[in-house]
Amino acid sequence: MKTFTLPNTDITASNIILGLMRISSLSDEEIRTLVGSARDAGITFFDHADVYGTEPHGCETRFGQAVTFSAADRESVVIQSKVGIRKGYWDFSKQHILESVDESLAALQTEYLDLLLLHRPDTLMEPEEVAAAFDTLQAAGKVRNFGVSNQTPGQVELLKRSVKQPLVVNQVQLSITHAPLIAQGIAANMAGLDQSIDRDNGILDYSRLHDITLQAWSPFQKGFFDGVFLGDRENYPELNEVIDELAGKYGVATAAIPVAWITRHPANMQVVLGTTNPAHVKDSAAGSDVPLTSEEWYRLFTAAGHKLP
Ligand SMILES: NC(=O)c1ccc[n+]([C@@H]2O[C@H](COP(=O)([O-])OP(=O)(O)OC[C@H]3O[C@@H](n4cnc5c(N)ncnc54)[C@H](OP(=O)(O)O)[C@@H]3O)[C@@H](O)[C@H]2O)c1
Repeated sequence: MKTFTLPNTDITASNIILGLMRISSLSDEEIRTLVGSARDAGITFFDHADVYGTEPHGCETRFGQAVTFSAADRESVVIQSKVGIRKGYWDFSKQHILESVDESLAALQTEYLDLLLLHRPDTLMEPEEVAAAFDTLQAAGKVRNFGVSNQTPGQVELLKRSVKQPLVVNQVQLSITHAPLIAQGIAANMAGLDQSIDRDNGILDYSRLHDITLQAWSPFQKGFFDGVFLGDRENYPELNEVIDELAGKYGVATAAIPVAWITRHPANMQVVLGTTNPAHVKDSAAGSDVPLTSEEWYRLFTAAGHKLP
């Protein structure tokens, strides 16, 4: 398992993250087995959000009930959560951020979050309010580091005018098949090619230039929660063929290859796994440091349907 220090933090952690969005119906024992399989594979980073679950803080509560960390253990893992999505609207107000973090800490049964992310851009936000909330949370020792999710470079810059803490993470949707973040730059300038349309104002290059760690969510989803491309030979025959071949070459399960496609990128991204199957955690985590060659990386890219002009 590859580990690295996230720039502008004192967090050293795995480049694979276990996401806990799908655990609400699992038993305590199943959650412990899932988390145990992650830790056995070398995963030290856990991703939550206040909104995950059937009610606010649902998944955080299930995690807190099932998993107990000793003080030493707590320092050896990274717990990240998010705030800002409410039922029917988004809310970056100071009051909501402060209340939600208190509820997250109670649900997770922990004294502090290592990282808090603003979940999706709230166009009605006042950056000064976000800044005041972050100052309060940091001064109280409730949150150690801050970041964003699904936000454009301009939105990050706007926050940075008021927020004094570094914004160290941007968590974004990225898989081999859903890769506008990467694919656009490869085909910039091509008339008439959908891939050439810039939909995020250059998040990838901005993040690299500003030492913001990108975290890839939905690494196995075809698109926006519409199923897994891995093993879908009807819709992705060529991609699955290349995945099979490379899994054989590197002696790993097929699930490791889509992960390796993300971790192989020099932007030093993290991959947020969403599986609740302990065997899938182990198989996927093996992609942490598979050294795909450039040629193999581009073969996967084109087999997924992206263009090299
Ligand atoms: N920031 C955001 O806006 C945002 C949005 C969505 C999610 N997230 C975070 O990202 C995490 C991952 O998202 P996600 O759950 O959509 O990611 P995902 O890992 O791409 O999708 C999970 C789904 O894929 C299936 N799957 C995973 N590996 C598999 C394998 N090897 N073989 C067959 N099926 C497999 C899982 O089924 P099994 O359980 O059966 O393996 C599950 O149904 C979430 O937990 C959450 O922490 C963030």
